[in-house]
Amino acid sequence: MLNHETEATWHYHNGTKHPNGMLLSRFHVYHPSHRPTPYKIYKNVPQVDLVLDKTPIGISALDAISTSDNIHNDTIPDIRTLGRILYFSSGITKKIKFKGLGEMDFRAASCTGALYHIEIYLVCSDLPGLGAGVYHFDPKHMKLDIIRLGDFRKFVSNATAEEPSVTKSPAILVFTDVFSRNSIKYQSREYRHAFWDCGTILANTLAITSAHKISSKVITGFVDSSICNLLGLDINEEAPITIVPLGESSQEAPDLSLQEINLDAIASDYEIEYPEVNAMHESSSLLTETEVASWRHQITTQRTESAKLIPLGGKIKVQEPLEDTIIRRGSTRKFSLEPITLDQLSTILNQATSGINSDFANHELLSDVYMIVNAVEGLESGSYHFVKEKNALEQLRKGILRHASGNLGLDQDLPYDASVTIFFMINLDKILEHFGNRGYRVVQLDAAISAGRMYLASYALGLGSTGLTFYDDLVTNFFSPHAVNKETMFLIAIGKKEKPSGF
Ligand SMILES: Cc1cc2nc3c(=O)[nH]c(=O)nc-3n(C[C@H](O)[C@H](O)[C@H](O)COP(=O)(O)O)c2cc1C
Repeated sequence: MLNHETEATWHYHNGTKHPNGMLLSRFHVYHPSHRPTPYKIYKNVPQVDLVLDKTPIGISALDAISTSDNIHNDTIPDIRTLGRILYFSSGITKKIKFKGLGEMDFRAASCTGALYHIEIYLVCSDLPGLGAGVYHFDPKHMKLDIIRLGDFRKFVSNATAEEPSVTKSPAILVFTDVFSRNSIKYQSREYRHAFWDCGTILANTLAITSAHKISSKVITGFVDSSICNLLGLDINEEAPITIVPLGESSQEAPDLSLQEINLDAIASDYEIEYPEVNAMHESSSLLTETEVASWRHQITTQRTESAKLIPLGGKIKVQEPLEDTIIRRGSTRKFSLEPITLDQLSTILNQATSGINSDFANHELLSDVYMIVNAVEGLESGSYHFVKEKNALEQLRKGILRHASGNLGLDQDLPYDASVTIFFMINLDKILEHFGNRGYRVVQLDAAISAGRMYLASYALGLGSTGLTFYDDLVTNFFSPHAVNKETMFLIAIGKKEKPSGF
């Protein structure tokens, strides 16, 4: 199936809808004791030590997620900075003991089921403190596994059809997804989770990179098989999903020949295959550099204007540095029913939806943002559509909608109790028209980066948040007619955390 044969996306998307999409088994059982090892383990490869440096550099999370000012294109990250970028993206930030399961590592960004199926690789030239090579980030030991030694950046540049930021970058990050580590729990829906869970990591990566004033760009167009060959991946098991070039250097990448590598590595404890995941990946793959070059273009979204708008509040400033916010972040397990303020909601919405520097859009969020307001001081309860250009909301329905909020979020307490539930929705047909099946990857990722930023923004403001899953078609029906023909890409709930009893 080729990228422009977009019935593949509809087959996958409709087939993985809750409740009981046809590609999901109702009888599937996952027990946490089946949780796969959440790390890729390379055996017998030499490693490079990374320093774990958590010192704040003085930029708040709210500024880091939304500012691209003062970025110096020519900054070349050294090994210490790279260690920080990797740690604050995907490092271990806390350990929690669970009865019967032992201690579990939790990471810098949220991840469906805490299954941590996204791996990060680095392809770099000689950098201060680190020789040119292809490396894999080992978060458990804060080390880099050496996959290849030498400057192989040209292979990434070629795979992206010489995308300028990639071609000039001295240090390129490649994010991959290990399918079975997540599908063991979520079955075929895994391929959505790949982009959700990569997006929340990317929100952190872009924020810490921006705090260091290093330029970055999210690249989604590349020849998939070329990156697999470079990293030595088995495409049926682990696939590259995003590339992020960092900084800029004048050091030209040499022409090297690529030897096949066959390293001894375990990406997942289980060899389970959900053919629809592999099929969706294959049908959204780009096969040649020519195809990548003609695929790549940035789109601008056209939104319909509404006459009656409700102005949002002002922007709150916080002092807490980004690094501390990332370390404190966690998914809220219980919201109190207390309201948040309109200024808090406005700050989160505005700071988190400023879009990203990417090869598909120019600092503009592709999805539309819808929400159910359960408890926000100064804002009537009801459902809304966010109109970013006007810093305003369009009211769709008035009334107490907590039951709907809980119901749409898979009948869980979290979306019922939260102050607000935020839905990222998009007309998928239009996206597929522009980008083919690859557009499915793009829009899932784009929404997830914004939602990842909302996680950081809400924690920066002393609030709580959690990603949630949802009943796809019920969400569309609920926000229609405004959201007619739109599909949900991400759901996040925000509110005040319930204080543990005794406080
Ligand atoms: C896209 C997404 C969907 C999620 N869905 C749910 C959910 O439906 N219910 C829930 O309790 N937690 C949900 N979570 C929260 C994860 O369980 C949580 O991120 C994971 O356990 C890691 O914990 P941490 O976020 O506290 O680091 C979701 C997280 C993400 C990123």
